[in-house]
Amino acid sequence: MHIGIQGKVSFIIDTDERLREELKYVNQVLAGYMPQLDVLSSFRPEESWFLRKPEGTHGIAHEARVLVFAELLGRLYQTEKGLGSIDLDVLRRAASTHDIRRSSDLVDIGHGERAASFYLDNLIANGYVNDNGIDSEKVAYVNSWHVPDDHHAPHMTSELMLFKDADGLDRVRIEHNGQGMDMSYARFEQTSHFVATAAYLFKISNAIMFSGVDQFDAVMQAAGMLGLIENDYAKSLINYSTTNVTE
Ligand SMILES: [Fe+2]
Ligand SMILES: [Fe+2]
Repeated sequence: MHIGIQGKVSFIIDTDERLREELKYVNQVLAGYMPQLDVLSSFRPEESWFLRKPEGTHGIAHEARVLVFAELLGRLYQTEKGLGSIDLDVLRRAASTHDIRRSSDLVDIGHGERAASFYLDNLIANGYVNDNGIDSEKVAYVNSWHVPDDHHAPHMTSELMLFKDADGLDRVRIEHNGQGMDMSYARFEQTSHFVATAAYLFKISNAIMFSGVDQFDAVMQAAGMLGLIENDYAKSLINYSTTNVTE
């Protein structure tokens, strides 16, 4: 248990109005349809999948945060366009594999295609993941085309579009000017509801990791504390704080 960190997160939610409004928004729009921890956990990436540095800038924690954002954006997209408008499993598996074959944290234009090949020819072919029922070609497509600018992709599928926004949100870990992703690049209007959220998911998951928790679990705990995945306690914080502000 991380009572100390939970206490700090409660304080942050109570005092940062932008964060609170963002969390309130997503919880209201996705009421009863918030992401579930057990589903996300079944897409946990393994250290052995990574060509290098599973603890690095593009390592497991990054993949986990992109998984959280992709799940949320996918569900928001479904509330607008219908359940069949997006394949959430494709987003989830792309999140957990898209950067596993990076050979550098700097420009590495081939890493998407390498991730796609590794996913199809190794993880699936050798049974390291059981993706029966998941459209693996669509996962490979997102992996391949998440790297170059949008106009290079043969087709900006809904999954590719949302995935690139989810990946972009975690740019906040690299760009410490407090801005993170430049929202003028956002492909999905709802992505702009995660600016403060992305900054705090990064900071809080790091704080939990520094206390010795596994990277993936730290991100999920942070997401739970912020109420980004189903969590009654976090929901009560957001509602309580909102009441305070509007009175
Ligand atoms: Fe990437
Ligand atoms: Fe990424």
